[in-house]
Amino acid sequence: MTAPAAGLELREVVAGYGGQPILHGVSLSVQPGETLVVVGPNGSGKSTLMKTAVGLLRPMSGAVRLGDADVTALGAPARAARGLAYVPQEANVFRNMTVLENLHVGYEFVAPAKGAAFAERLDAVLALFPEIRVKLRSTAGHLSGGQRQMVAMAAALMPEPTVLALDEPSAGLSPRNAELLFEVIGRVAASGVTMLIVEQNTRLGLGAADHGVVLVNGNVRLAAPAATVLTDPDIRRLYLGGA
Ligand SMILES: Nc1ncnc2c1ncn2[C@@H]1O[C@H](COP(=O)(O)OP(=O)(O)OP(=O)(O)O)[C@@H](O)[C@H]1O
Ligand SMILES: [Mg+2]
Repeated sequence: MTAPAAGLELREVVAGYGGQPILHGVSLSVQPGETLVVVGPNGSGKSTLMKTAVGLLRPMSGAVRLGDADVTALGAPARAARGLAYVPQEANVFRNMTVLENLHVGYEFVAPAKGAAFAERLDAVLALFPEIRVKLRSTAGHLSGGQRQMVAMAAALMPEPTVLALDEPSAGLSPRNAELLFEVIGRVAASGVTMLIVEQNTRLGLGAADHGVVLVNGNVRLAAPAATVLTDPDIRRLYLGGA
């Protein structure tokens, strides 16, 4: 990918629903070209954090920055137009369209094209996802869960975003398919895209990350290099089932 990298940052974000905060002053930042994985138990606020980052939820206070700009007041489409791509936890492909049509939607409608022709973007994206090259004419709804996640990521990458945000990419996948998907995620990260991932599978998620954040009850419990989080004794005991 040739797009210039851009970072993403949350500053003291308080956010929730109906006036009730779920995130209690969360700060984190993803450096350009790096991958940050947010882990934490069910209900800890990971999807809420993601929705706030991508502009689907307006924070009660605090700020969101994309690259050099404060984007707190911008909604999701405006952030997408500035290079922030988002793959939600559920309903992330058009199931009754083919894979190729899904990629077209990503290219035409998600964010304005930056000048690269469709065929050029298709080549660049399929180089990262050889698994779906042979499935272009298949109906997305007929693919396996892992293949569908790849289609969702591929469609999100079609407009050549600088930041890719993934909510729970391994949700619903078998352990083996989740592992394979994280290999693909590693490939995407190596292509230079900045990545923010929230993931319940602590070991897999942190294994693919440069930095890790542990979110518990809407608070950052630990923020450190991913390898440090993986070896933190408390984290191992609480979330990794190891001594
Ligand atoms: N639209 C909503 N309206 C009201 N409360 C909500 C809404 N979405 C989430 N919540 C509440 O916010 C809290 C955090 O939910 P969130 O989905 O952010 O957690 P999560 O860490 O993503 O969980 P999971 O691992 O199950 O995906 C939960 O208590 C949930 O019930
Ligand atoms: Mg969630």
